Amino acid sequence: MAVFLGIDIGTSSTKTLAVDESGKILAEANSSYPCHHLQALWSEQDPEDWWQATITTIQAVMKQANLKPDSVKAIGLSGQMHGAVFLDEHNKVIRPAILWNDQRTFQECEQIERLTGGRAKLIKLVANPALTGFTAPKILWLRNHEPKNFDKLRKVLLPKDEIRRRLTGEFATDVSDASGMLLLDVAKRTWSKELLTMLDLDAKLFARCYESQEITGQLTQEVAQLLGLTTKCVVVGGAGDCAAGAVGNGIVKHGLLSTSIGTSGVVFVHSDKMEIDPAGRLHTFCHAVPGKWHMMGVNLSSGGSLEWFSKKLCQFEIETEAFGKDKTFEKLVSEAEVVPAGSEGLFFLPYLSGERTPHADPDARGCFIGLSLKHGRGHMTRSILEGVAYSLRDSLEIIKEMGVPIDEIRAGGGGAQSPLWRQIEADVFACDVVSLKAEKGSAFGAALLATVGGGAYKSIEEACEATIEVVSKTNFDKEAAKTYQRGFSIYQDLYHSLKNDFKRIGQMTKDLQHKHPEKVAVK
Ligand code: XUL
Repeated sequence: MAVFLGIDIGTSSTKTLAVDESGKILAEANSSYPCHHLQALWSEQDPEDWWQATITTIQAVMKQANLKPDSVKAIGLSGQMHGAVFLDEHNKVIRPAILWNDQRTFQECEQIERLTGGRAKLIKLVANPALTGFTAPKILWLRNHEPKNFDKLRKVLLPKDEIRRRLTGEFATDVSDASGMLLLDVAKRTWSKELLTMLDLDAKLFARCYESQEITGQLTQEVAQLLGLTTKCVVVGGAGDCAAGAVGNGIVKHGLLSTSIGTSGVVFVHSDKMEIDPAGRLHTFCHAVPGKWHMMGVNLSSGGSLEWFSKKLCQFEIETEAFGKDKTFEKLVSEAEVVPAGSEGLFFLPYLSGERTPHADPDARGCFIGLSLKHGRGHMTRSILEGVAYSLRDSLEIIKEMGVPIDEIRAGGGGAQSPLWRQIEADVFACDVVSLKAEKGSAFGAALLATVGGGAYKSIEEACEATIEVVSKTNFDKEAAKTYQRGFSIYQDLYHSLKNDFKRIGQMTKDLQHKHPEKVAVK
């Protein structure tokens, strides 16, 4: 039996799946790690944690499914996008990786626009405006703020590509993930030499760019031995987690759109041609399917908002296992279930890490608005689920405005495994949503890319056709949809009402941090 592994280097954990040619999941394993927020806008991780989690999860799936070393033919990688791993001449990590939800690079984004002659020119070059989460501003931040580290810099890799380097020794990336670096000519699917020159960045800093199903290397002898695999096992290009998740959801043809609730929230639409939102609110990136593109809107805290709420505000219950072991989400969601649509007037703005789509605003902040004595924890949880769905609708509206056809919405990601959250999505979108049998997200998409690179299928479309099955439909409720239509208009207005206050709060936070650095730093 031929086996394929999909590995997703996520923000909260690494997930590895083993699948056979039919896409049947033979084994899966997860290993989590921390994310460090040393300052309010910062978000960092240690790439060594990803590597250890990769080893643990591969070894675990090999054992679980009792797989023979030579049965594993190919590995597909997926990972959190945009993160910058900085390597020196000995391939040692210079400093912690700066992640996709880190907001420190506001000034560098302005600098990029200045150096390229403005936002419109930049969009012409790389299809996207400069956003704090993207990789290029992180590299400029290193040059501006840590010049000694910048002097040591020899390579910049994305998270999954650092894992590829450790697996194969190769410096390689794929076009979907590379699109999020803001250095790729997205139309031509190659690095933009013009932009690199404008930013004075050496092309040698970057990995070689492949299509997602192409073979980028084989396991090294040492790694093969460590993992119980063979050096014949190839590693394919893989994809950024959004494109990989979309492949795992079958979003590989015209008319299909997915929403995904992971740490971030993503609305992703396949496109046969490259289309650009002139206002730059949506990202236009290469798809993991050769010759295709996708547009997407990304919010920075979807599942992340619920995770924050449970970790910070239910600490006691988690520690004492008052809800039952690992049952925090179930308990919170069951409390939210009995609260009516609209949370009796309570709103949540999910801007805990600032926001990306549609408000590229690092100063935006999370809020509960409309609290009264009546509201309890169930209302707060429900308003988080609703706030996230409103935020996804923000992106959906832009896609509709651009005239991109949408025949079907597939709800995915960890959040959509909750029937309540799925229902809220359908009601907020005022549209039925479908879900897949055993939706396994980005790791599954990465495994499918490996089946193609490993020769089991001729194309990604064929692999999806053979392995993905839509199983259930969540019909929207007309009454709830009416309530949410009203709520959405209030939700949209709230950001604009608060925009200036967010700025002032941001400035105050920076000043306080400056005054009492040790007290304000949060771990
Ligand atoms: C996509 C994005 C996030 C990360 C998180 O643009 O920033 O979805 O990839 O995993």
